[in-house]
Amino acid sequence: MKGVILAGGLGTRLYPLTHVTNKHLLPVYNKPMIFYPIETLVKAGIDQVLIVTSGPHVGHFLGILKNGKEFGLKHLEYAYQEKPDGGIADALSLAESFADNDSLAVILGDNTTDADISDSVKSFKEGALIFIKEVRDPKRFGVAVFNKNDPQKIIAIEEKPKEPKSKFAVTGLYFYDNEVFKIIKNLKPSQRGELEISDVNNEYIRKGKLRWAKLDGYWSDAGTFKSLYSASEYWARRDR
Ligand code: DAU
Repeated sequence: MKGVILAGGLGTRLYPLTHVTNKHLLPVYNKPMIFYPIETLVKAGIDQVLIVTSGPHVGHFLGILKNGKEFGLKHLEYAYQEKPDGGIADALSLAESFADNDSLAVILGDNTTDADISDSVKSFKEGALIFIKEVRDPKRFGVAVFNKNDPQKIIAIEEKPKEPKSKFAVTGLYFYDNEVFKIIKNLKPSQRGELEISDVNNEYIRKGKLRWAKLDGYWSDAGTFKSLYSASEYWARRDR
């Protein structure tokens, strides 16, 4: 399995900070945000990684991450997303040649977690695997909808619903087989003009090929001032 970190987008919710550099290079406590997803993948035994990025500060990544050796990576590749806010699935579409028919562990560049996903990496074979987490504010996320008669079954993912049907957010950590690229090619942009990762996951549900697991431990995104602050606070507390 190979790793993909999606670090495009303009990070407008973090202006003026993102005028200075790319969102994923802003500090979360004592290191740039993107170090966390890289470390999550390396800890899980993944040593080939693609970073998809975009926007005016893309050059900053090379200076900091170089060839990835310092993180224990054997191969670090970069891809440029032309439309910086084309959507998460649009960013993922750029990983097709890198994947080279292998399966992918995809992680959003603004997600930090201390979860150990190595067992899931080892056992993944096909379809899609999403990781969910109970949160207080599900409206901000993709939200899992469970079958009323069979609560083990997710029947849909609703992206930022006004009235969430559960408290389980879909975290920005996804495993996919190579089918994902065919699915993305058939996607239509959502109302906000993006190719949505929730639409990809809904297609896997339709095919009966989506599995899910609860993510153990701490998880947060860091794409708003509040979440950036609370993620920094969490990692600082852990370091005490
Ligand atoms: O954090 C988990 C949530 O992430 C999920 O629950 C949602 O289903 C998913 O849509 C996403 O929601 P966000 O609103 O937080 O996504 P955001 O637009 O902030 O993008 C998250 C990361 O994805 C961002 O840090 C970089 C990457 N990205 C995003 C877009 C829109 C790209 O690489 N390219 C893009 O065009």
